[in-house]
Amino acid sequence: MTEFPVLPRDFTFGVASAAYQVEGAVNEDGRGRSVWDTFCDKPGAIAGGESGAVACDHYHHYREDVALLKVLGVDSYRFSISWPRILPTGAGAVNAAGLDFYDRLVDELLDAGIEPTATLFHWDTPQSLEDRGGWTGREITEHFAAYAGIVGERLGDRVARWMPLNEPNVVTMLGYAIGNHAPGRSLGFEALPVVHHLLLGHGLATQALRAAGCREIGIASNHAPVWPASPEPQDVEAAQFYDNLWNWMFADPVLLGRYPVEGTEQGFPTYRDGDLPTIAQPLDWFGINYYNPARIGAPGLAPDSSQLDGAELPPGLPFEARRIEGYERTDFDWPIVPDGLAQIVRTFRDRYAAQLPPLYVTESGCSFHDDPVDGRVRDPRRIAYHDAHLRALADEIRDGADVRGYFAWSATDNFEWAAGYAERFGLVHVDYRTQVRTPKDSYHWYRDLIAHTRANGTQS
Ligand code: FCB
Repeated sequence: MTEFPVLPRDFTFGVASAAYQVEGAVNEDGRGRSVWDTFCDKPGAIAGGESGAVACDHYHHYREDVALLKVLGVDSYRFSISWPRILPTGAGAVNAAGLDFYDRLVDELLDAGIEPTATLFHWDTPQSLEDRGGWTGREITEHFAAYAGIVGERLGDRVARWMPLNEPNVVTMLGYAIGNHAPGRSLGFEALPVVHHLLLGHGLATQALRAAGCREIGIASNHAPVWPASPEPQDVEAAQFYDNLWNWMFADPVLLGRYPVEGTEQGFPTYRDGDLPTIAQPLDWFGINYYNPARIGAPGLAPDSSQLDGAELPPGLPFEARRIEGYERTDFDWPIVPDGLAQIVRTFRDRYAAQLPPLYVTESGCSFHDDPVDGRVRDPRRIAYHDAHLRALADEIRDGADVRGYFAWSATDNFEWAAGYAERFGLVHVDYRTQVRTPKDSYHWYRDLIAHTRANGTQS
């Protein structure tokens, strides 16, 4: 018999996805344009010139997709709601057909015995709002809260868990500072006010969801343990700088009501007294999206260029990403470091102590390019990835960490942003020419793990 990670019987097993990555149907039923539609039209922005215009056509295949989730036996499905489907211009008139789609999806999930977990913003800002400055301005935060209220009123009676935001650090850094994600702005450090507006949007949307009677509100925040490239003081200092920028500038305001570097907020042109308490709304849980650690050194100190990480960062930064050696890598060239998940959980427990709500791993996963052979997708490396990450988590839980669940990224293969369709994170393979879904070996393994844990998991 295969040995499985030992987890609590009532641990929440889920899978996660995001609207633009799976839905397609971008011009249907009154959906407005988002920044990702615009960005994908830009020559050279996306590998292979691809876009999410069709993706997995989940908008039309959602019943089939939910049926696959039912057989998988997950407790919960994390999906995102497309803001421009609900409010085509981001504010103003509601598109009833958009709300109806998520209403049907939620009911389909509940009929299958699956708890809906909903993200309100997984990066698809309505283009009309971006045209007015997007997240660089403060105005968008009020529109975001209004959108949260509309969705909360309609679905709050049936959605089990909510998160206004997915990965505000990735939106800020890749979308506004570097520009390799939508909306493709390269503002460098001028992008910092975006942090404040996203977090304020999170706080205001949380209030709006609560006012609409929604339960179990949290956040899906991307975090990575930061490893100094060497014990040299310059490398340690560069790593600390990056750690604040990537991790604590986003988590501290939400959990502690302050920025990690005192006075940061005074540098934001739109800052108002009272913003930080708004951002620090009490949360029912905190979600960590984890993929790999970051190894950071001082610029110019790498012994040779082979030590630099592939990620293209603009010149002039006070840190440099270095390649993590000594670990296997996914087909997306990301290092596989299960202990990094344990490290970040421990860091959260130490840093936030009694102020830390229960944790979920709201995303973790890997891209491997395995294709079907005679109707079967053998993906042992994906099984090994999830197995190892869940074992690392199980150890932390035994050590007292309150981690309530794990959402594997992703249910199906999907549109991986700037990397297009070449990267495949799904437990289910998608043939994009035919839209045929083929559950991979990892899907069957996850199903067995879930059933095994229900029967043999520890009592918590
Ligand atoms: C995360 C995103 C998610 C997906 C995975 C691979 O950063 O939240 O949409 O693309 O990476």
